[in-house]
Amino acid sequence: MKILAIDTSCDETAAAVTEGTRILSNVIFSQASLHAKWGGVVPSLAKRKHQERIDWVIEKAIRNSKLEIRNLDAIAVTIGPGLAVALEVGINKAKEISEKYNKKFIAVDHIEGHCLSPLARSNNATAQSANIQTNYPALGVVTSGGHTEVIKIEKVGKYKILAQTVDDALGEALDKAARMLGLGYPGGAALEKIAKEGDPNKYPLPIPLAGQEKRMIFSYSGIKTSLMRKIASLGKLSRKDVSDLAAGFQQTSFAHFTRVLDYMLKNERVGEIHDVLAGGGVMANITLRKMLRDLCEKYDLKVHFPYSKKLYGDNAAMIGVAAAFKYERSDFVKDLDKVDRIPNLKIDSEL
Ligand code: KG4
Ligand code: ZN
Repeated sequence: MKILAIDTSCDETAAAVTEGTRILSNVIFSQASLHAKWGGVVPSLAKRKHQERIDWVIEKAIRNSKLEIRNLDAIAVTIGPGLAVALEVGINKAKEISEKYNKKFIAVDHIEGHCLSPLARSNNATAQSANIQTNYPALGVVTSGGHTEVIKIEKVGKYKILAQTVDDALGEALDKAARMLGLGYPGGAALEKIAKEGDPNKYPLPIPLAGQEKRMIFSYSGIKTSLMRKIASLGKLSRKDVSDLAAGFQQTSFAHFTRVLDYMLKNERVGEIHDVLAGGGVMANITLRKMLRDLCEKYDLKVHFPYSKKLYGDNAAMIGVAAAFKYERSDFVKDLDKVDRIPNLKIDSEL
């Protein structure tokens, strides 16, 4: 089935056309530079930019797919979690298209999109590699700007959150660290770049909740205070200091993440699994992926990452992939008037 998917959950205006798990087009208009000078996403600006760009991304996604609207079977849209005023733009547009062209409507959870993003296939994939072999139950690991979650995937569509952050998300912590180090916003990618030149052991920071992994929670608010103190004690920072601090911050924040996961795997808190699906903006980080890969190897698990860089950060192709499974289950919205944004939607709640 062919689906037009839309995501306007935060500061990317995104549309894609997918066929099953194949990506026919994936168009993303990033508003990052607009919000950069404010040091974070400004909801009213995000809303206005989504409104300005939504038609453009949709038209481009359809054009790039070489299909026409009449060839599509359904419209899918992110209904949460995310910024209310931003989500609304995509939802209203999806309703409009669904009504005008009489297309089925699929409501999708943004985190389910990230979680299933490793299942996406390139349009050029050969028939044999068209689907990745995943055994269920599997484990989902999502690290993004707003979420840090370990999810039991009983099967596609049935989820349970096993561990999550009690304060900041991993991406949020990296963004705050980057800002303290003068690297701009959003800073995860810039932090990764400069950290490559740095020595992660030069300025060690305490690993959050070390020794308390059995609580199965993540916490990223304390570590940024440690970084702030370290920066203050150093005074004027040289480029070398910035790279060492960036490397140390990354190492410590990722170590916290993998230590909790290691505890969960060692103590069989995740049940019998063979596959791990990993997604979200922060998973684009090579150091984090290596740590996760090493951990999965230790427990003889197969870890799957998205095939393209464009599938890590916010995008609509992953929403199309999640929607394809809902289409198979005939999980369509019956009454469009009842569709509303759910800014705090949880992946384990019923839509
Ligand atoms: O998934 P995403 O695009 O948006 C949310 O749903 O939140 O994730 C954005 C987050 C930001 O915090 C950004 O700094 C981080 O992903 N990020 C990275 C990298 N690229 C993006 N973090 C670490 N290393 C990267 N290469
Ligand atoms: Zn996201």
